[in-house]
Amino acid sequence: GEVIVEPLIRTTVSDDRGEEPRYRGYAASELCEKGYGIEDVIALMWNKKLPTKEESEIIKRIIMISADHGPAVSGAFGSIIGACAGIDMPQAVSAGMTMIGPRFGGAVTNAGKYFQKGVREFPNDIPGFLAWMKKNVGPVPGIGHRVKSLKNPDKRVKYLVSYVKNETSLHTPCLDFALEVEKVTTAKKDNLILNVDGTMGAILVDLGFPIHSLNGFFVLARTIGMIGHWIDQNEQNSRLIRLYDYLINYAVEDERDVPEKK
Ligand code: ACO
Ligand code: LMR
Repeated sequence: GEVIVEPLIRTTVSDDRGEEPRYRGYAASELCEKGYGIEDVIALMWNKKLPTKEESEIIKRIIMISADHGPAVSGAFGSIIGACAGIDMPQAVSAGMTMIGPRFGGAVTNAGKYFQKGVREFPNDIPGFLAWMKKNVGPVPGIGHRVKSLKNPDKRVKYLVSYVKNETSLHTPCLDFALEVEKVTTAKKDNLILNVDGTMGAILVDLGFPIHSLNGFFVLARTIGMIGHWIDQNEQNSRLIRLYDYLINYAVEDERDVPEKK
């Protein structure tokens, strides 16, 4: 008789059963031929549809501007330590990737999620939003930076905000809400600015991306930087990194005798 087998997985993203991959039905080569770029493929795979020209220009800038932020940040530093330990590229890059989380780079999703909640549930009530966040969440994702502040603004954020607001027709309720939050938080403390994660998250919500896709933008973009750092260290034949004692505060017990075991 006929045997019916339940599929193991269901996919809506891509299909390789023809001559070439089709991304949500579109042949990859035809996308290239017709002038689409990587930003269009991202939107197609992550948001199920091709973006408008204006939207893809915003996505492109988000990726470009967050591709790297120097060697000192958690992600790049993780990859550099890996590279210097002689680790291969995929593993060294994933060491850096592991650092992407709630404090570093991985606040995009929750920034988008909570700013969107703010737009819906706390319109014109930033203090109410901040009180709710303090009680239920903790630090506001997308707000705050270790070195950037009102006195030392983050040019990436300024550029993205200005580009989206002045050079596109995107409707920006989430970004506007995030900027209002920043006004209140920076009045409390100079470094509680809207950061790159928060700016990306708010703009991506305004672009209609699914909330759970948002951290993907930082992950994707920063992979470019981490690969760059791995190549750079390899080309320089860098030595193993070992922290110097002066970089460590040894808050340990004084040297003492081990007592006899009872
Ligand atoms: N919301 C509310 N209060 C905050 C926030 C925030 N997002 N961030 C810091 N604070 C407060 C702290 O409670 C603390 O207050 P206190 O002095 O009264 O105790 C003060 O500001 C200093 O906080 P620290 O944690 O010492 O600041 P630090 O410079 O170490 O933190 C960080 C920077 C991790 C980015 C922090 O601001 C944060 O957690 N932000 C939210 C997560 C986030 O958006 N991360 C992405 C950063 S951008 C990027 O990685 C690409
Ligand atoms: C980054 O883009 O990596 C950051 O904004 C984090 C940092 O501390 O610079």
